[in-house]
Amino acid sequence: MSVADDFEHQPVMRDEIVDVFSTVPPGVVLDATLGGGGHTEAILESRADLRVLGIDRDHTALKAAGARLERFGERFAAAHARFDALREVMDDHEVAELSGALFDLGVSSHQLDTADRGFSYRHEGPVDMRMDSSGEWSADDVVNGYDEDRLADIIERHGDERFARRIARAIVAARPIERTTDLAEVVTAAIPAPARRTGGHPAKRTFQAIRIEVNGELDILPSAIDRAVEAVAPGGRVAVLTYHSGEDRIVKDRFREATDRCVCPPELPCICGAVQTVRLVRGHAKRPSADEVAGNRRASSARLRVVERVAAEEEHG
Ligand SMILES: C[S@@+](CC[C@H](N)C(=O)[O-])C[C@H]1O[C@@H](n2cnc3c(N)ncnc32)[C@H](O)[C@@H]1O
Repeated sequence: MSVADDFEHQPVMRDEIVDVFSTVPPGVVLDATLGGGGHTEAILESRADLRVLGIDRDHTALKAAGARLERFGERFAAAHARFDALREVMDDHEVAELSGALFDLGVSSHQLDTADRGFSYRHEGPVDMRMDSSGEWSADDVVNGYDEDRLADIIERHGDERFARRIARAIVAARPIERTTDLAEVVTAAIPAPARRTGGHPAKRTFQAIRIEVNGELDILPSAIDRAVEAVAPGGRVAVLTYHSGEDRIVKDRFREATDRCVCPPELPCICGAVQTVRLVRGHAKRPSADEVAGNRRASSARLRVVERVAAEEEHG
């Protein structure tokens, strides 16, 4: 089995993503969250006049994507970086502007399913959760280092967890916690029994919150989206797939900021006289089909938002 075959991850809303980039000008699409390269492969297959520059902060993902996408030769290149450094990565690859940019946020199924990465509440591993395994800061610093107030705050904010305070108290009392399955047990026991039976695994929201904290996921996102919107050429598009409300709020906010000079409905051409350089491709987030959700649980919380740079001849003031 090759390194690419070993990388299990079904690209979410694959056909919708291909559709998003079907109208963009020829050139380079930046895949800011390359993962196993599933979306990139679909984009490269869909149009021979597009190349993809991929970014990931996870060396394992870059290796798997490199193997999977080798057959595209020079149409594909990749870099190990955080996605807020997209401009530097573009400069390194002599890419002046983009035809599109894609962010498929969060972790891949491969990261979740690899026990020793420590992302999973189901598989036993160290309390780690670093997307970039060379980083010095891990879930151990959060789980065994944060005081109760700070822990409760991140579990509530990043996990939308209503029992955050009880969970934080239980974690502090059970220290040191070194294995993911021990952490999952402590979290589960802290949640009142009736509430444990709804909303998926009881530890899911707390694990998500700790992972977001360890990787600074929400801190990096706003500037990365702004940079991507600035980097796309007229007719180019920025698409973002989010998986929880905190991420989606940020995307909505940054897209509104980029488009709000115009007060016209997104379905109509601008008539208000504002200089509009970016438009929402759709007023609302698109959700995956029921069929897709039935076949891929991870897709169930996905929301896709897209903006397009307005073509030069449409700009007016
Ligand atoms: C959901 S997976 C992407 C899967 C990919 N679209 C596919 O079809 O295979 C997200 C990937 O983005 C990477 N990632 C998340 N946040 C990142 C960041 N701030 N900078 C760079 N890579 C990031 C993760 O390491 C992970 O491999």
